[in-house]
Amino acid sequence: MSAAGALLDVRGLTVRFGGLVALDGVDVAVAEGETVGVIGPNGSGKTTLFNALTGLYAPAGGEIVFRGRRLAGLEAHAIARLGIARTFQASRLCLDLSVFDNILIGMHAGRRTGLVDFVVRRRRFLGEIRAALERASHLLALFNRDLPSRGFERVGQLPQIDRRRVEICRALAAAPTLLLLDEPSAGMNPEETAELMRDLRIVREEMPGLSVVIIEHDMFVIEGVSQRVVAFNYGRKIAEGSFAAVAAHGEVRAAYLGTEAVGA
Ligand SMILES: Nc1ncnc2c1ncn2[C@@H]1O[C@H](COP(=O)(O)OP(=O)(O)OP(=O)(O)O)[C@@H](O)[C@H]1O
Ligand SMILES: [Mg+2]
Repeated sequence: MSAAGALLDVRGLTVRFGGLVALDGVDVAVAEGETVGVIGPNGSGKTTLFNALTGLYAPAGGEIVFRGRRLAGLEAHAIARLGIARTFQASRLCLDLSVFDNILIGMHAGRRTGLVDFVVRRRRFLGEIRAALERASHLLALFNRDLPSRGFERVGQLPQIDRRRVEICRALAAAPTLLLLDEPSAGMNPEETAELMRDLRIVREEMPGLSVVIIEHDMFVIEGVSQRVVAFNYGRKIAEGSFAAVAAHGEVRAAYLGTEAVGA
């Protein structure tokens, strides 16, 4: 797509760790409402892209423009407030906290009050909390109608698929315009993966303006949910286009040779 008018426009993004170039002059644009799949072998820079987008890593070069605004120098919480939310490759749910508590932590990203205020002076925020619980229930019910009734249970008691749903709801709770999903199907069996794909389609239908970037090793998921695919290898973007075009791309096939077949 053309970068002009894109929701997210990443140009020449370079991230270094000492002598290692984790991202090397990467260009990626994401349009409003678009779902972009990101593939690439282990260590190719996929998570590094998310970490740079969310302000966890400071780029050595290039720029990130989100909703017309350059993100350079902004801290992670400021970027979250601008509308970028994410899930992590390794779950960051607090298993001992309730489902609702975990989601309310996500809503905090969009708030101006301090987390301490939010937790300690709860009475001041009762009305807001009630609204937040309603929103959390609404989000959970999109994926599983039984989940809102388990909102006060510990997340650790839920099955894997529902935990992943809580993580996605936590990210959605901040009402982002860009949702970054880092290997959401990791650790799932084929049935759970099929449910996840169904969930992602529901997100698309319910929030048509939301843009999604999804990193996945499962090519079935990538093919099923993305409108466009970007492939990385050694920190460089080596292919971009439809799933079919990217899966057939010579450099992509070579990158995956000996690890897994793409689109086979
Ligand atoms: N904080 C860090 N410090 C040092 N090196 C890092 C750091 N984060 C990532 N790297 C390195 O940068 C490269 C890209 O890592 P990244 O996590 O982005 O890969 P990935 O494509 O997400 O891989 P995977 O599919 O295994 O998750 C790797 O060589 C990794 O070891
Ligand atoms: Mg990764």
